[in-house]
Amino acid sequence: MTNRRGPFAAGDRVQLIDPKGRIRTIVLRPGGTHHTHRGALDHDQLLGLAEGSVVTSAAGTAYLALRPRLVDWLLAMPRGAQVIYPKDVAQVIAQADIFPGARVLEAGAGSGALSCALLRAVGAGGGLVSWELREDFAQIAQRNVEAFFDGPHPAWTLRVGDVAQETGTGFDRVVLDLLEPWVVLPVVASALLPGGVFVGYVTTTTQLSELVEGLRGHGGFTEPQAWESLVRDWHVAGLAVRPEHRMIGHTAFLVYARRLAPGVTGPARRRRPGKGLEAYAQRRARPEPPGGSDGPGEHEAGRDHQE
Ligand SMILES: C[S@@+](CC[C@H](N)C(=O)[O-])C[C@H]1O[C@@H](n2cnc3c(N)ncnc32)[C@H](O)[C@@H]1O
Repeated sequence: MTNRRGPFAAGDRVQLIDPKGRIRTIVLRPGGTHHTHRGALDHDQLLGLAEGSVVTSAAGTAYLALRPRLVDWLLAMPRGAQVIYPKDVAQVIAQADIFPGARVLEAGAGSGALSCALLRAVGAGGGLVSWELREDFAQIAQRNVEAFFDGPHPAWTLRVGDVAQETGTGFDRVVLDLLEPWVVLPVVASALLPGGVFVGYVTTTTQLSELVEGLRGHGGFTEPQAWESLVRDWHVAGLAVRPEHRMIGHTAFLVYARRLAPGVTGPARRRRPGKGLEAYAQRRARPEPPGGSDGPGEHEAGRDHQE
């Protein structure tokens, strides 16, 4: 985004919020016009105004004008693959401990939503290598990232292909949002520096189980932690203060682990053998049924949050 503060200028992306809270986003052009069913609105009305001003369309409807936040952009950006939900972006950035200057490996780039957040967190002095299997999605990711940062980001390398091809080392952090992250754990292990942080983002319980057991089975990681976050909006109006009736019940699970130093095996976890572990071992031992596994098939089930 061209300007993050100051009066509106040409090229700025601006959200116009109508009296019902509906949002439309425009890019300011001198002489430009935005047409709504409530009348036209000239861009020149906005140029030079302070952020947070109100402008009125030809039909008399008032619009509040604000620059979008990153989370607004994540929800508004054109999509190929489903994007990560904003509440989960916050979890990834915090729990993966993405810091300015960090070297981060990401896959898959999808629509580039998480890439935008990671790039903002690592800054121009960091490095983000993002892999995307599909050429068409990679193009969407590139367009979205360049739209958000007003051009190519100096810290970003986008690679089209399978992240399994990554041969780089010395990464501080690895963040995976893809169908079968457990398959590429050897790549994650080689890429990460000792103490480096791994965060995986998966939608279904079967994926969660495969990923956590995969990390344990690899042996080069600390005991994985798994969690999900639930965000509930509240209705607050005078004395009517209560949770909103509707909320997003599920988006995805997150998994965190740290890379151990080379050759080190983590302290053995004292875990009582339980039925769950036995059943998992038995399932692993079974030959795969003809026609492939009955593994996760609902990767996107939990994140249908198109606005
Ligand atoms: C759910 S999307 C990622 C969305 C992304 N985090 C975002 O916020 O826009 C998952 C992506 O992973 C890609 N993918 C799956 N397996 C991959 C692999 N082995 N290497 C690279 N990309 C992969 C898919 O093509 C898909 O675009």
